[in-house]
Amino acid sequence: RMLKRQMECRRDIDRLNAPFLAIYESLVPPEEEKAKQKQLLSLLEKLVNKEWPQARLYLYGSCANSFGVLKSDIDVCLAIQNADINKSEVLLKLADILQSDNLQNVQALTRARVPIVKLMDPVTGISCDICINNVLAVVNTKLLWDYAQIDVRLRQLAFIVKHWAKSRGVNETYHGTLSSYAYVLMCIHFLQQRRPAILPCLQEMEATYSVAVDDIQCAYFDQVEKLRGFGSRNKETIAQLVWAFFNYWAYRHDYANAVISIRTGSIISKREKDWTRRIGNDRHLICIEDPFEISHDLGRVVDKYSIKVLREEFERAADIMQYDPNPCVTLFEPY
Ligand code: GTP
Ligand code: MG
Repeated sequence: RMLKRQMECRRDIDRLNAPFLAIYESLVPPEEEKAKQKQLLSLLEKLVNKEWPQARLYLYGSCANSFGVLKSDIDVCLAIQNADINKSEVLLKLADILQSDNLQNVQALTRARVPIVKLMDPVTGISCDICINNVLAVVNTKLLWDYAQIDVRLRQLAFIVKHWAKSRGVNETYHGTLSSYAYVLMCIHFLQQRRPAILPCLQEMEATYSVAVDDIQCAYFDQVEKLRGFGSRNKETIAQLVWAFFNYWAYRHDYANAVISIRTGSIISKREKDWTRRIGNDRHLICIEDPFEISHDLGRVVDKYSIKVLREEFERAADIMQYDPNPCVTLFEPY
């Protein structure tokens, strides 16, 4: 009977819609934030073009994928065509240029996994990371943005999940938990799997957008304005979806065998991907396939300790959604 109870949504779940929507609304950044980001981007573009006239700057990450909450830092990609550039040299040169123009805390991190220059703009108060030629990140940012245009419930769910993950300390890749990018992929997958589906699988549809990034062909249907209303046959509310999302990751997901894949819109097997054993530091304890870099598991950062922490947090959240009288508060209590 306990198990049956676990599978059934609580009867008063829809009473939680208004408070969850209020949390979502409070996290959405105001329009003037966008204007400030544009202002900083054009300043950077001006400085960069003095040295490299051909270079372009692109926003990526949460400032451009529509999953950015208030006060996020911005991620910028510097695209330089020149084939024989040395990234470290460019980064050091870039840091030099920016340093001399009143930007603060300018730092080149040339040895990081993704080498970047960090800086803070005292005029807008925005902090910024600049990387070089990380075109895949720009393309996956567009994919996430396009998915967000199809059904507003994706943005609502992802904001709530990200807010929960930050409050509970499970959004820290250097501590073995998941990136924001991974959580958004989990939300997209989850909405693709609802019946009726709330999101389609854009990469399985006729490609209207296609770019080659090194040896990876990134192609998918990007005319998302034609897909508004796609999920309207599914009437699930945000409260039901938050409940079901945590229930899925707490009690339904097959951690031993399953890989979630928004590329295929389904679950695929670890065996099929040869993700069954530890290779180097990649343990594949929770498997989230990158939509374009398909050999890349966003769960690779998770180790045998942090998987326990993560799963306990999913169970805590699922139980709160099921039994707690006031989930909209308890869910986000600092750990
Ligand atoms: P917040 O900064 O927490 O609001 O979220 P964010 O959306 O900026 O996410 P995050 O900082 O995790 O990542 C920034 C961007 O980098 C993502 O949107 C992706 O485009 C890209 N990215 C992050 N991690 C990976 C990764 O492991 N692989 C790839 N290919 N791209 C990644
Ligand atoms: Mg970011």
